[in-house]
Amino acid sequence: MMDPEELLNPVPQADDTQENALRPKSMAEFTGQPELMSNLQVFVKAAKNRAEALDHVLLYGPPGLGKTSLAHIIATELGVGIRTTSGPVIAKGGDLAAILTSLQPHDVLFIDEIHRLNTTVEEILYPAMEDFKLDLIIGEGPAARTVRVDVPPFTLVGATTRAGMLTTPLRDRFGVHGRLEFYNAADLKKIIIRAAALLKMSIEDTAAEELARRARGTPRIANRLLKRVSDFAQVAGESGLTQSTVATSLARLGVDERGLDKNDHRYLDALINKFNSGPTGLETLAATTGESKDTLEDIVEPYLLQLGFIQRTPRGRTATAHAQNHLRTLTRL
Ligand SMILES: Nc1ncnc2c1ncn2[C@@H]1O[C@H](COP(=O)(O)OP(=O)(O)OP(=O)(O)O)[C@@H](O)[C@H]1O
Ligand SMILES: [Mg+2]
Repeated sequence: MMDPEELLNPVPQADDTQENALRPKSMAEFTGQPELMSNLQVFVKAAKNRAEALDHVLLYGPPGLGKTSLAHIIATELGVGIRTTSGPVIAKGGDLAAILTSLQPHDVLFIDEIHRLNTTVEEILYPAMEDFKLDLIIGEGPAARTVRVDVPPFTLVGATTRAGMLTTPLRDRFGVHGRLEFYNAADLKKIIIRAAALLKMSIEDTAAEELARRARGTPRIANRLLKRVSDFAQVAGESGLTQSTVATSLARLGVDERGLDKNDHRYLDALINKFNSGPTGLETLAATTGESKDTLEDIVEPYLLQLGFIQRTPRGRTATAHAQNHLRTLTRL
């Protein structure tokens, strides 16, 4: 069983075993992200019409919003193969060269966590992305020489939760920049209903809406909460998931009505009550809440910003009146 503190963590957890089964497999199955999806549809169609490789695509945004799913969908829609790897796994230039030379023309190369590529590997990637050429160094010392070899035209799909950590030359070599946004409640509801059907669960409409409201705009969390809540329904001997079961079981799991948990409450309590709603620096907040700066920036803050509960200012974080009101309703409970 997952640590309840991790229930709302958008990063994959050991319990998320059904992720692959629930992954949308085509553009038609992919709900939400309307702007990005309609652009991708056009680019994919154009590339197919021209019988060319699709331009390189950078997908960025918070964890669990569908970057990996989309990389696979792009390959499927193009009708090409996909090779998947990740930034920290490609240790040496030779590793990348081996991957690139083994691709079929127009294949997708998916590099997850692309902000973690090392500099040597990145420099080999530039000419490969630009001209489909690879500069190989043969021999060592004074006898060393470079040879330029062709690689098949390919589409690099890079994914990152940290677009800001990408070097400018790398970022500039992507023709398509796709930013994934948090999902609205209507789209999350559709995603939950689809997942329930795939898992052969029966769920009332209002139950799906209640889950959608509390899933932090994140499909991965929506699917996870669905499974957890259905455990409660099953133990209670209920055949279908109802809104009241969703509400009571999520309350028992420490998920409040806006989808916030203890980690968010601790953060808001610190910012509002200890620092008079800020502005307060990230480091101070990290020290006070006992979380790392990275966790706050990647996991806790994005959704609080989305809710309009906090703001990032040059002098630090501030809490808004919405956050103050929300915290007040909690303490009244
Ligand atoms: N648009 C969507 N429609 C339906 N389900 C989705 C959608 N996007 C994501 N999901 C679900 O959420 C899960 C997580 O998505 P995915 O692994 O693609 O996210 P990610 O952005 O790659 O996350 P990370 O940053 O952690 O790598 C998927 O397994 C899938 O079940
Ligand atoms: Mg991913």
